[in-house]
Amino acid sequence: MSSKGKPGVWITGASSGIGRSTAIEFVSAGSKVFVSARRETELSNINNDLSGSKLKVEVYPCNVSSYTKVEETANNILESHSIDCLINNAGITSFKSAVNNSIQEINDIINTNLLGAIYSIKAVLPHMVERGGGTIINVLSVVTRKVFTNSSAYSASKMGLLGYTNSLREEVRKYKIKVINILPGATSTDMWSHEVKEKNPGRMMKSEEIAKIILWAYMQKENLVTEEILLRPMDGDL
Ligand SMILES: NC(=O)c1ccc[n+]([C@@H]2O[C@H](COP(=O)([O-])OP(=O)(O)OC[C@H]3O[C@@H](n4cnc5c(N)ncnc54)[C@H](OP(=O)(O)O)[C@@H]3O)[C@@H](O)[C@H]2O)c1
Repeated sequence: MSSKGKPGVWITGASSGIGRSTAIEFVSAGSKVFVSARRETELSNINNDLSGSKLKVEVYPCNVSSYTKVEETANNILESHSIDCLINNAGITSFKSAVNNSIQEINDIINTNLLGAIYSIKAVLPHMVERGGGTIINVLSVVTRKVFTNSSAYSASKMGLLGYTNSLREEVRKYKIKVINILPGATSTDMWSHEVKEKNPGRMMKSEEIAKIILWAYMQKENLVTEEILLRPMDGDL
């Protein structure tokens, strides 16, 4: 182990939903966890929830749509730690038709979901190459497998990241860097309106369930890479 101590896991979009559950799942399994998102108070609240257990995540607020901010955050983490795993989870959508989506909304979705993930990868990749290994996990979506309306910019962002990371995977095998894509279907989080969640009680997946699968994929330390996992509610898509 390097003088920087135990290598950690950097999770973007960890202030709620799948990212928050993933942070708790990883820290509970003994990982050192660095959490990022725009809302610092929500990130700090993870430690309030963990306070009875002596477990703790390290908070690094970061808006992933700014490369300057992403690079600064990665460098801040790397000053005192190694990063063994990056989980690109930060994401937004609008649930609007292409006609009704404003240019600002489209920019925000592409800048966060696609460029934000690419920026985070670029910020940690030299470090992973240098240390001779690592894992990059991307939370994509079932929209990369099936057509949904009112999701055009969102689908473009997730399919763009699928293409980027499929190419990346082949480039970085030689450095022992694993690239894992998780493709969840409908999961009950703040991304969905209260109306949709109330209309589908018990039907949507839980963020805690997705988090367990992400941890499982990360833990496969043998001579294999789990390249892609598609997760759907038992009763199918909404
Ligand atoms: N829920 C689903 O049905 C579903 C299905 C497939 C895939 N996904 C994907 O799962 C991921 C997590 O979403 P979720 O469902 O858990 O929804 P969520 O609870 O709304 O979580 C989204 C997270 O992304 C963060 N975020 C948004 N914009 C950001 C930015 N510019 N910079 C940094 N962080 C940002 C949010 O934090 P701040 O607001 O504090 O920045 C929040 O922590 C997304 O990539 C989403 O596309 C979700």
